[in-house]
Amino acid sequence: MNDEARQCLQLQNSVTDIAKAVEILSSGGLVAVPSETVYGLGADATNSSAVQKIFTAKKRPAGHPLIIHVTNIESARTFSSDFNEVAETLGSAFWPGPLTLLVKRSSKVIDEITGGRETVALRVPAHETFQKVLAAFSQIASGAIAAPSANLYGSVSPTTAEHVLSDMGHLIDAIIDGGQCAVGIESTIVDCTVNPPTILRQGAITLDLVNAALTPTGVIATEEINGDSRAPGMKLSHYAPRAGVKLFETKDSLFAYANQCDVNKVPYVSITGHEDPKLYARELYSLLRDADALQPHEILVLLPESTDIGKAIRDRLFKAAAPH
Ligand code: TXA
Ligand code: MG
Repeated sequence: MNDEARQCLQLQNSVTDIAKAVEILSSGGLVAVPSETVYGLGADATNSSAVQKIFTAKKRPAGHPLIIHVTNIESARTFSSDFNEVAETLGSAFWPGPLTLLVKRSSKVIDEITGGRETVALRVPAHETFQKVLAAFSQIASGAIAAPSANLYGSVSPTTAEHVLSDMGHLIDAIIDGGQCAVGIESTIVDCTVNPPTILRQGAITLDLVNAALTPTGVIATEEINGDSRAPGMKLSHYAPRAGVKLFETKDSLFAYANQCDVNKVPYVSITGHEDPKLYARELYSLLRDADALQPHEILVLLPESTDIGKAIRDRLFKAAAPH
């Protein structure tokens, strides 16, 4: 069947629909699933040809590693040959939730997932629907779902079922509609294999939260600097709308710039977000997608303060604004 002829099954959160989704996963198909961060493009993490389909559908370069999603910390341990004290502490503190742990892989992890690396990224998602899928999938098969964000490589991550359908509805077998993602930006990634443990991608679980959880262990985590990430695929010109993105630290500077624009020559859309960084994060990707759909020349965006999840929003916006 060619791509255009493919029908994407649209599923809900019912028992029969979850069973249908799991059946498709078991037979090597692609199912988009809602998570609390962004929608994931799921496949059986233990099936090489199913995992390969993720790369083809997303047009993601081979070798970019994927996150494995599992039901609980017990299952996560089986995918690592060294689920160390840092991983135990952070997994116990934040799972299920928007945190991904990078640990040494076990022999259960196939090469297609890690791009041949010795580490694997693991996450226990909190979204009720994703949890139901994982539980049902554990009953009949591996219970491990590889899932990158369900967008085409390099574009804005999806936080609603409509986003996924418009990007890749014709490339996947099914989608489960779980409503709008509550967090709205991708999980925090902590590399637990290095000393000190290091945040490779900012998210809702901030450095302060990580370090508060690690206090009893006496370990103090740090963050990568320079955006020179060891997690491939998180460098610049990612998360990018088609329009140019211009960033502002204050509303005054944004409005001053907008006022001197000749809208006939340089059509723009402005995004001022929300005072509450959690609400800003939840809406961020919808705001970028909606702005881009108007095909402006520029999208003017107000940066949030660098507190709480604001730091992760800034990280995504700097990437969206990078030349591409
Ligand atoms: O919130 C999320 O994390 C979402 C939901 C669906 O769980 N997933 C997600 O996946 O954002 P993806 O593939 O778009 O981003 C995963 C990031 C990539 O930048 C990848 O390079 C990094 O995790 N990663 C995965 N495995 C890795 C590894 N073994 N070493 C270094 N980086 C890794
Ligand atoms: Mg992604």
